[in-house]
Amino acid sequence: MIGVFDSGVGGLSVLREIWAQLPDEDTLYFADTAHCPYGSRSADEIRALSVRIADFLIRRGAKVIVVACNTASAAALHHLRERFAVPIVGMEPAVKPAAERTRAGKVGVIATEVTFQGELFARLLQRYANGVDVLTRACPGLVQQVEAGKLDDPETDRLLRLYLQPMVDAGIDSLVLGCTHYPFLRDAIARVVGPNVDILDPAPAVARQTARVLEQHGLRAQTHGPARRLFYTSGDLRAFEAIAGRLLGVPVRAAFAAEIAENAEGTISDGDAEARGD
Ligand code: DGL
Repeated sequence: MIGVFDSGVGGLSVLREIWAQLPDEDTLYFADTAHCPYGSRSADEIRALSVRIADFLIRRGAKVIVVACNTASAAALHHLRERFAVPIVGMEPAVKPAAERTRAGKVGVIATEVTFQGELFARLLQRYANGVDVLTRACPGLVQQVEAGKLDDPETDRLLRLYLQPMVDAGIDSLVLGCTHYPFLRDAIARVVGPNVDILDPAPAVARQTARVLEQHGLRAQTHGPARRLFYTSGDLRAFEAIAGRLLGVPVRAAFAAEIAENAEGTISDGDAEARGD
């Protein structure tokens, strides 16, 4: 199975690309909804959560882990690769293609603060942003809007205008979606930035990289039966199933991952703790 994880439903924007490009591969998606958003946690906390989730996925048969979260990649990728033997595919904001494509010499990147603070992002800028102005903006609140399914909503539009209008006014012509939740706001984002700004979502490239890594390690699926598509959440099961089903456009049945949820602050009721079979 391909193990994929995120703080919540954001990584589904990567999962749908993996389904499209690798339709015969089994997938196991983990949404750490109990600890979402990761963007307001410390790098140490995110690292500890990522290790527990990767371990959880590997014990359930993941042959590769896709960290479908820029924030967890920034905080934990290096650590996960040192710790686990399975290949780990990570994400980074698509600064390289944006810098190659911009005609104005100005690109915008939206992501969480943790993503911008990480070494990965500093290295990206050093390598690819030469001669290009990269305007960065953390966007608190947007992840929660997506988790709540408020994709087309006045408050979401207000936040997007607040974060994006200054970049548009500064003359960007490319906008990098540096958080996997944001592709689900693509239509609302396009309304704010207008038709002259390219919007870059790295999810297709991450799925291509996953395919390459599977090939390189001789791990491509051998059987051609219908692929299994499993889901776990550490948060409210019904809420996750509803929003994930809506975002993916297919019915989603998930199981509750009590062992990852148990240290979460917040309210996880006992009723939620009944894991349903995979
Ligand atoms: N989807 C995430 C990312 O790509 C998570 C953001 C969050 O939980 O704050 O960064």
